[in-house]
Amino acid sequence: MIGEAKRYVESQTSLRPKIGIVLGSGLGAFADELNDRVEIPYSEIPGWPPATAVGHAGRLIVGKLGDLDAAVMAGRAHLYEGNTPSQVTYGVRVLGSLGVRAMVFTNAAGGINLALERGGLVVISDHINLQGCNPLVGPNDDSLGPRFPDMSEAYSRPFRLIAKEVAAELCIPLSEGVYAAMLGPSYETPAEIRYLRTIGADVVGMSTVLEVIAANHMGMTSLGISCVTNMAAGVLPQKIHHEEVLETGAMVRDTLVLFLKALAPRLVGQVTEQPSQKS
Ligand code: HPA
Repeated sequence: MIGEAKRYVESQTSLRPKIGIVLGSGLGAFADELNDRVEIPYSEIPGWPPATAVGHAGRLIVGKLGDLDAAVMAGRAHLYEGNTPSQVTYGVRVLGSLGVRAMVFTNAAGGINLALERGGLVVISDHINLQGCNPLVGPNDDSLGPRFPDMSEAYSRPFRLIAKEVAAELCIPLSEGVYAAMLGPSYETPAEIRYLRTIGADVVGMSTVLEVIAANHMGMTSLGISCVTNMAAGVLPQKIHHEEVLETGAMVRDTLVLFLKALAPRLVGQVTEQPSQKS
């Protein structure tokens, strides 16, 4: 099925993306930056699960960012929508088979670390998978990657350094922290947030980690960027609403677009200089 999806995407564009960017809830605006773009609804791509979450567009956009061929997933599949881990990681698998070597995963997240603020951007240093599943469970497809992939640098250190450099150049405040992934779709309780803080999480969300596992499995180099769309449960004396998440996404939209536009070519430059090794 992945092969069919790859051939379908290749039949729609002559571009051959080297970088893939996944846009999280309310963060879809970046797709408009691509020139010569084709927009392929997920429903047209063989095997691709629909993105049903509010604030997720559900399109694969392939286009040019300057000289760079890029693929943007506007909308992703979540476990909480009833998708299986292999559906959640399908898009990443297809991008990998298209030849993408560098991935940027963006997401909306709740701020657990009290030093964070609503609207802030966080480069993900590492993750804690509390979703209770792993996309690599089952027979391993050795043509994709190894049975037991290393995850000690799941979020590339060189990519994180580049992200910090680019943010500094653009005067965009950027924190760094650990992302905890919950199944959702209910937001956490205040007790759960205290627990997550105790185990070392700085932000919390409902996506990204399975995709990053699949990307690492395939030897793709990954960067994660969380947008703190709200402070996590119990931090402030107020309830969390999905509208707040989407509103914050809209607030940081222009900053994120600037950041990703400057970042993407530098990341691809890094991967081309030092091709990642699949073990
Ligand atoms: N918790 C989990 N996922 C989220 C949150 C949150 O507070 N905000 C945005 N996504």
